[in-house]
This record gives sequence, structure tokens and C-alpha cells, in this order.
Amino acid sequence: MKIIRSIKAMQAYSTSLRRKGRTIAVVPTMGCLHEGHLTLVDTAKKHADSVIVTIFVNPTQFGPKEDFSKYPRPLRRDMSLCRKRGADAVFTPSAEEMYGTGATTTWVEELRLSQGLCGKSRPIHFRGVTTVVAKLFNATLPDVAVFGKKDYQQAKIIQRMTRNLNFPVRIVLQETVREKDGLALSSRNSYLSQDEKDAALSIRRSLLSAKSAILKGEKSTARIRKSIVNGITSAGGRIDYVEIVGADSLEPLRKISGKTLIAVATFFGKTRLIDNIEIQNRFEKD
Ligand code: PAF
Repeated sequence: MKIIRSIKAMQAYSTSLRRKGRTIAVVPTMGCLHEGHLTLVDTAKKHADSVIVTIFVNPTQFGPKEDFSKYPRPLRRDMSLCRKRGADAVFTPSAEEMYGTGATTTWVEELRLSQGLCGKSRPIHFRGVTTVVAKLFNATLPDVAVFGKKDYQQAKIIQRMTRNLNFPVRIVLQETVREKDGLALSSRNSYLSQDEKDAALSIRRSLLSAKSAILKGEKSTARIRKSIVNGITSAGGRIDYVEIVGADSLEPLRKISGKTLIAVATFFGKTRLIDNIEIQNRFEKD
């Protein structure tokens, strides 16, 4: 497995793969890899001949009070996991390599899908994500890029950005990978104490019971929202948001109709966790 640190070397490697007729899939990550990321690698292998994993803790997507400096960076372990999972290369640039030494004055910003959900409490987050993903596409020159649906809003924004900017990259989305007990895998789970982890299971429980209520015909988003908020707060979670939105528009719904997404962001202790559930409503004509 190749380990590449400079953009020039990355572009040269991808160009050489292309000359050999190989297709390329990229899996962008911030490292601290878990089974969720490694499943993205498996998916990437199904869609292209060569797989590049990028590991870069992107400073521009963290707010001033967020966990950029304490974000875990077990790089050697991550590289060995990538090697074992069959990645062809890891691209792990420094912040200076990606952004230069001065402040960035060029941004890639999606202005519609980024407004709600996590965009409200993390106002600069998605601008940082779209900017770095555009940069990573320019560095790795992929045919395919794979993202997880746990970060559903992020995935939709990246799909939109890719289309809007005509990147010749096919975006593949992968289902959320969970612990056996239902907790969505996240690098931030490592911040949780055992008690907080147990309490955080209320997220998945509440989302599943909301889904089952909707599939039985419940249409009131206010009632659904209330029961999710109760389920999570009674377990000790603090709500950032619970939103019921159209799965493609990400616009809030007053009544359930069409393909729906319920997305939540909660704090357990100091740790912010997100999760979501997609629901294909079968009661369209009621
Ligand atoms: O999902 C992530 O880990 C990051 O937001 C991404 C897409 C790698 C951009 O830094």
C-alpha cells in the first residue's frame, strides 16, 4: 500500500493508474477508522479497480469551540487497518499541504441543503466539508467517491456539490454501520463513558419506534418529534435537534408525505452524536 503525503505525488499516482486503464475510488475520512469506514473501503472496492483512502483531519470544518485539537489521530493504526482491508493507497497530507500557510480565501459552499439540521448549530461546518472534499477530488482524481449515510446531510450536500461543479465523480452512498446494540459507529463514540453509551442507545430506539408509528399511519410530525425528544431526554440526552424532513430536499415536513428522513443530533455528556432513519412512507394516498 502506498502512503502519499503531497498533492503532486497523489495526482501523479492517480494519473499513472488511469494510464493503466484502472478506475479509482476514493474514501475520504478524518481517520480514527472504525468498521464503518472499513465497510466504505469494501464498497469502494466493488465500484473501482483501485481504492484510495484519504486521512485528513480538516481544520476548516471545525467551529472554534469544537474538538479539532482533541480529535483522535491514531495514524499508524489507521494505515495498518487500510492495508489489511486492501486499500491501494492512503493519502494523508498535512494541513499546510492542503491549505498553504496563509488563510484560505477560496471556498466551495453549497447554499441550500447546508442551511438546516447540522448547518444551524455548526454554521461553518459544511463550507469546510465541501471545500476539503473538492480539494480531495482534485488531488485524488477519482471516478467514484464513497460516503456513509450516517452523515446524511453531508452526503446529500456532497452529491449536490459534485453535480453543481461538474466533477466527473460518481457518489456512492452506503448504509450506516452499527454496533450490535444499534449505536451508529462514529469516531466520537470513543469519547463516551459506558453509561453514556448505554444512554445513547435511546437514539436508535426512538428512531425505530418513530418509523414504526409512521408505517402504521402516523402523519403528525409534531407528535413524532415529541416522542423522540421524550425518548432521548428521558435517557439523559440533551437535544440539539430532532427534525423530520423530506429525504431529498432536507426541508422540514409539517405532515409525513413521501420519502422522509428523521435526523437527530444529541449530546450525551459533552459528546455530540448524530443519527438518522429513512422512511419510505407507504400511506401516500391516505
Ligand atoms: O465525514 C468525514 O469524515 C469528513 O467530513 C470528510 C468527508 C472526510 C471531510 O473532511
